[in-house]
Amino acid sequence: MTEVKNKMRKIAYIVFVLVAISACRDKDEMPCDVPTGCDSYAPIGENYNLNLPFYAPEPLIPTDNPMKVNSVILGRHLFWDKRLSGDNTMSCGTCHSPSTAFSDSSPTSVGIDGIFGTRNAMALVNLVFQPIVMWDGRQPDLEAQSGAPVEDPIEMHETWSNVISKLETDTMYQRMFTDAYGSQCMDKERATKSIAQFVRTMNSFNAKYDRVIYGPEQFTSLEQLGLDIWNDEGGSPPAVPMGQEGADCFHCHSLATEIFTDFQFHNNGLDSVFTDLGQGGITGNPNQYGRFKTPTLRNIEYSAPYMHDGRFNTLEEVVEHYNSGGHPSATVDPFMKFTVGGLQLTEQKKAGLVAFLKALSDPEFITNPEFQDPF
Ligand code: HEC
Ligand code: HEC
Repeated sequence: MTEVKNKMRKIAYIVFVLVAISACRDKDEMPCDVPTGCDSYAPIGENYNLNLPFYAPEPLIPTDNPMKVNSVILGRHLFWDKRLSGDNTMSCGTCHSPSTAFSDSSPTSVGIDGIFGTRNAMALVNLVFQPIVMWDGRQPDLEAQSGAPVEDPIEMHETWSNVISKLETDTMYQRMFTDAYGSQCMDKERATKSIAQFVRTMNSFNAKYDRVIYGPEQFTSLEQLGLDIWNDEGGSPPAVPMGQEGADCFHCHSLATEIFTDFQFHNNGLDSVFTDLGQGGITGNPNQYGRFKTPTLRNIEYSAPYMHDGRFNTLEEVVEHYNSGGHPSATVDPFMKFTVGGLQLTEQKKAGLVAFLKALSDPEFITNPEFQDPF
């Protein structure tokens, strides 16, 4: 008898759920547990002008998330809002801090529960041009990456539905979501689209490098030496027939892109045995083990420590890594062709590379009031 009753209850419950779902579909305004989403995800209002110099690469902006002034403002507030984390102590800006070019001075970042991740927080610089997101490229775009840290158990350790409940009652956000999307409905998609837009505004083209190449300033002789050998092949003839006794940086950190990356993955010889598989860890392809995104080098002076695990503290150590040739492995990049013997750069040339790297610093970028914590 009780068995029959239980069965009846179950059927009644299923019927109730089905009716509830179809009722929600019928009536837009009906309050309901079944998520129906917001009415629109198209950012509205005045266009945001990225103000890029003529030589900047082509910005990558998804057609369904055009840059708008109000959406960028909303994104900036969300980026800096600690309510995005489980215990309300951590914002995106905690790990991506202005003074370190929006990266973290700790080799690997620590989340709200005191647990360290395994990677160095990346500097958020000129991402609007970069098709690869993350050291291993695991995120398809900045929209996806703006959602992930919130739910990452060793980063912000929160759920988006909790975040939205925390923000929903805040009249400032009610106004900002209305200004950005036409209604005060809040959800993960609206929030992450706006954060992605804010990150796309974080662009840097006012380094000494720009003022020399496209303006009247001059490099010091040391900086000029660094630039010259940047673009020269390594090795000296006759041992290396095409050798130019240079530093060979240009193959991967290409000057032509203006942001000193070739938008590719490479294994730059950090290890012979990989503790982190990088791109290969995502794709499962052994030919991609130990390969990581070539990062931009703009503002590199500020974003120590260096590499995906923050293993080098200074630019001098980085230069010494390349000078030594690094470590051979099955996937080491062909452009790291001096893994045996090294580049054998003189002390003067090594100092030149460091001086040139520092000419990519843009103090106005890291102090730009538009990017700072608005709270
Ligand atoms: C606990 C520290 C931490 C917090 C909080 C954090 N990040 Fe990060 N972020 C990292 C680390 C570490 C990486 C590199 C991870 C990797 O590649 O595996 C990263 C990478 C990124 C990248 C990729 C950059 C590139 O060059 O490809 C973006 C974009 C980014 N974070 C944006 C955000 C946003 C937006 C938030 C807030 C919603 C946020 N991060 C919160 C630590 C953090
Ligand atoms: C084979 C391609 C390649 C060559 C050649 C190359 N790099 Fe790199 N570089 C990379 C990659 C890939 C990374 C990130 C590697 C990682 O973290 O695992 C990197 C990282 C760096 C970093 C640290 C960036 C950061 O945000 O932590 C600096 C600085 C740097 N390179 C400078 C140079 C200089 C100077 C040269 C020439 C002497 C050079 N690179 C040559 C591919 C290359």
